[in-house]
Amino acid sequence: MTVHAILVAAGRGERFGGPKHVALLRGRPLWEWAEEALRHGGVVGVVVVGDLPGGIPGGARRRDSVRAGLDALPAAASHVLVHDAARPLASPDLVRRVIDRLLTGGVDAVVPVVPVRDTLKRVGDGWVVETIERRGLAGAQTPQGFKVAVLRAAHEAGDDDAGDDALLVERLGGSVACVEGEVSNLKVTYPGDLALAEAWLP
Ligand code: CTP
Ligand code: MG
Repeated sequence: MTVHAILVAAGRGERFGGPKHVALLRGRPLWEWAEEALRHGGVVGVVVVGDLPGGIPGGARRRDSVRAGLDALPAAASHVLVHDAARPLASPDLVRRVIDRLLTGGVDAVVPVVPVRDTLKRVGDGWVVETIERRGLAGAQTPQGFKVAVLRAAHEAGDDDAGDDALLVERLGGSVACVEGEVSNLKVTYPGDLALAEAWLP
């Protein structure tokens, strides 16, 4: 079994104000941090999707970029991690956790999760509509792990862009396990997030 990775870095970074995967954290672009964690965590190869050295072209939607990565995977890849280039702080330990669970058997996909900390409210037009029971709720991160054949089939089965990669597998009735994510594994989304990422670094 060989575990490869797809690193998606073809977004426009609209909320950030430009292509954030090349923004520098301690002098290194975000995507390099993310790629290094994947390699140190045990993937044998990384397909980089985006306008980067060695990268392949992405698509208009994130799922199109993931699909481009799937099409470029070596035939020998049995399992794949899909990871956001905008998450520079995912640790090699987290990558290993996802891979270990994925290879344990009996699972189609693995998602790192962190329990929700705040009380959740559904809101609209300046009013609280309802409070949502927080127990059992968690935020989903990347890297998410998949059997390659299952993720391919999931992409064939539907074409909307809601949610994450694992959702596609959930819809097919696939088994999606979760492992402990990392609070520090933030997805750099707004310009101020670079300072937050810097603060998490040792
Ligand atoms: N991504 C991608 N191809 C797309 C859209 C997103 O490869 N068409 C990647 C981004 O480069 C990023 C990851 O998916 O690494 C997570 O997406 P997001 O945080 O939404 O990044 P952007 O889409 O670039 O940002 P925004 O939504 O603010 O434009
Ligand atoms: Mg986006």
